[in-house]
Amino acid sequence: MNLSIKHLLGLEGVSRKDILLVLDTARSFRQILERPVKKVPTLRGVTIANLFFEPSTRTRISFELAEKRLSADVVNFSADASSLKKGETLIDTARNIEAMKVDMVVMRHAYPGAAQFLSRYVSSVMVNAGDGAHEHPTQALLDFYTIREHFDRFRDLRVVIVGDIKHSRVARSDIWGLKTLGASVAVCGPSTLLPRYIDTFGVDHFTDVEKALKGANVVNVLRLQLERQTSGYIPSLREYREYFGIKKHHLSLLDKNHIIMHPGPINRGIEITPEVADCEDSVILQQVTNGVAVRMAVLYLLSQNLRTATEE
Ligand code: CP
Repeated sequence: MNLSIKHLLGLEGVSRKDILLVLDTARSFRQILERPVKKVPTLRGVTIANLFFEPSTRTRISFELAEKRLSADVVNFSADASSLKKGETLIDTARNIEAMKVDMVVMRHAYPGAAQFLSRYVSSVMVNAGDGAHEHPTQALLDFYTIREHFDRFRDLRVVIVGDIKHSRVARSDIWGLKTLGASVAVCGPSTLLPRYIDTFGVDHFTDVEKALKGANVVNVLRLQLERQTSGYIPSLREYREYFGIKKHHLSLLDKNHIIMHPGPINRGIEITPEVADCEDSVILQQVTNGVAVRMAVLYLLSQNLRTATEE
């Protein structure tokens, strides 16, 4: 079975069939990660460049581990140590990397649409590892894998995403994908941190955490980007913590069968208290483990496009 997409640029418009194919394939790779030797020859001979123009801990390490566990040849590019500092454009950087016969490019960039833009100029398969406030598709796919691992379904699940929805690429990818999978999605945050066009998203939206959390199965807590305070979006971190921070007493509002998620990095004691982040219902570290298997699945499935192109 092949994906119907050539690149993974976002989840908006990606079919349920494609998402489920990634999740099913990730299940096999997840088993490989439990073996003493966590490596398979699947991508031997495939060269992958990781272009990170923005800081990342989880996504960068997770992609690199996924690539190495599939036996791909990996090159890492960091914007700080590149010729971008000398004025080279993004297209020229990418074309030069492609000229070195790179098959796949994993890219994080501050500009929304950067991965889609490059996909028009290079023939390598592109994977978006987060583009500004637009999308973070592999984070959402690992969220879906973790939800499915716990509930074994998406229909009739109530998923509440709490925090800075306006600037969150994770929220957007989660919303598009979860709606496609049939979950009921709600978002909650200060009105200043909800997009102005939230009504067009087709999700419930709240500014009252207690109302939003009632009966939820999944609470996905987003990182508060601390610079939002100085940008005037919230009056103070103290008030944000008071009104939107997820605390232990909130857990009693949820459905009996619930999990707590966070894409990381966590501001402990601001958007989530340590006792909730570390409670037995928290799957935050399982998300990180599942991320490697999901990225292995994405890279493997998209690499089928390289084989098809070679055969043609
Ligand atoms: N979740 C996530 O994207 O984390 P990083 O910014 O550390 O990659």
